[in-house]
Amino acid sequence: MKPLPPGPRGHPIFGSSLGFRRDPLGTFLAAWREYGDLVRLRGPVTVYLVAHPDHLRHILVDEFENYPHPADFDRKVSASVGQGLVTTNGEPWRAQRRMAEPAFRREQMHSYAGVMLEGTRRMLDRWGGEPLDMQAEMQALTLDILARCLFRTDWSADAAWVGASVRRQLEHLNHKLISVPDLPEWVPTPRNRRFLAARRRLDELVYRLIGERRDSAPDEADLLTTLMHTPDPETGEYMTDRQLRDQVMTLFVAGHETVAATLTWVWHVLSRHPEITRRVRAELAEVLGDREPAMADVPNLKYLRRVLAEVLRLYPPLWQVARTPLRDDVLGGHRIPAGSFLLLSTYITHRNPAYWDNPEGFDPDRFTRERSAGRPRYAYFPFLGGPRNCVGMAFANLEMPLVVASVLRRFDLESVPGHPVEFQPDLTLRARHGVLVRPRRIEAACPAHT
Ligand code: HEM
Repeated sequence: MKPLPPGPRGHPIFGSSLGFRRDPLGTFLAAWREYGDLVRLRGPVTVYLVAHPDHLRHILVDEFENYPHPADFDRKVSASVGQGLVTTNGEPWRAQRRMAEPAFRREQMHSYAGVMLEGTRRMLDRWGGEPLDMQAEMQALTLDILARCLFRTDWSADAAWVGASVRRQLEHLNHKLISVPDLPEWVPTPRNRRFLAARRRLDELVYRLIGERRDSAPDEADLLTTLMHTPDPETGEYMTDRQLRDQVMTLFVAGHETVAATLTWVWHVLSRHPEITRRVRAELAEVLGDREPAMADVPNLKYLRRVLAEVLRLYPPLWQVARTPLRDDVLGGHRIPAGSFLLLSTYITHRNPAYWDNPEGFDPDRFTRERSAGRPRYAYFPFLGGPRNCVGMAFANLEMPLVVASVLRRFDLESVPGHPVEFQPDLTLRARHGVLVRPRRIEAACPAHT
């Protein structure tokens, strides 16, 4: 029989689990440095850290059917999002994916781009010269954009409570995913009660919007209308109200915090690397002149897109992704028993010096065509890959450059000295104390401002 992967012994009872709870990124890094790209971390639940690009391809592409999400993950997350894209597997997932993909096609993106630019403009109109926590700003902005893309409705009056309720869902999921054991929602703890109240309010809103939309579609197709009117190409069936609700909640949870976290790290990096900011500005001046950015400009903002790619390398919002094999498997000559808990870590693989020289250095030009040549596909997988990659990737890759370009045309952002910046590896990789910057308005949006 093949051996299990190597790994640290850790604590005699708790293995590596205490270290993992205290400092997951440090524990992963130390184990990977000592044992390599496939590590067994003992504990009440044995965790297999998978970081080799060949193994990642095997799991995500070649043997994709054998590697669904762990059932426990789906159960916990479904408390908030029901049976949507993230929490289903097999044929139910496949059917939802077929119906959801059209909502993210290129033709739809034009109308989303307008919402993204408009939302960013509204945010910038509010900014003065006071220091801003860009994490909070980006969370509010990305939620505003997503909600307007989903419903194409003016929800400004509801923004505060919807934002708080979606936050509550995420906090609850964070808590559930790390708690052993986690208490079911019907146990009346204060946390559960707050969660259920927030979910109930969101449900009321979402079902009301679904009902209104069934009666009359808006002039321009929003995400909800597209989801509602797209039949499953194989069965011809449409989504029920319940399925639409689950999909909307899924998109709320999956589609704003990920983008917000990435953009937060963009501002952290740019406020500390003036030379990189200068290059981004020079490119904006060249491509846009004195125009506002538009969707058609995004392919031409090549350096900005490399900056974003490099942020996603060093600060991947989904820093780990869980999978469980249905059948026994072999990876790199090691046995992976059925039912094992595998964590695929973008954070680790993106720092492997075999594929990235000076891995901790921020160097957008490592993504030029020449320097990318020969790098294995799965050395870099912020949006995953294979059939279950991120369905919102095109949305995110449109939103992020449009937001950054819009902000930089109107503001300089200086870092606030002394503000601590630390990772907070929750469900997404956040900044524990936020990212504080001082915005300075650029008087005339001047193309020569470099
Ligand atoms: C920088 C931004 C983003 C990153 C890095 C990202 C990354 C990912 C990753 C790694 C997964 C796979 C998770 C897993 O299977 O365990 C995923 C799935 C997903 N993402 Fe994203 N995402 C981003 C933005 C978005 C946006 C904007 C949306 C929607 C508007 C979205 C919607 C989804 C959905 C629905 C899934 C589940 C897909 C499925 O299982 O078929 N994401 N994302």
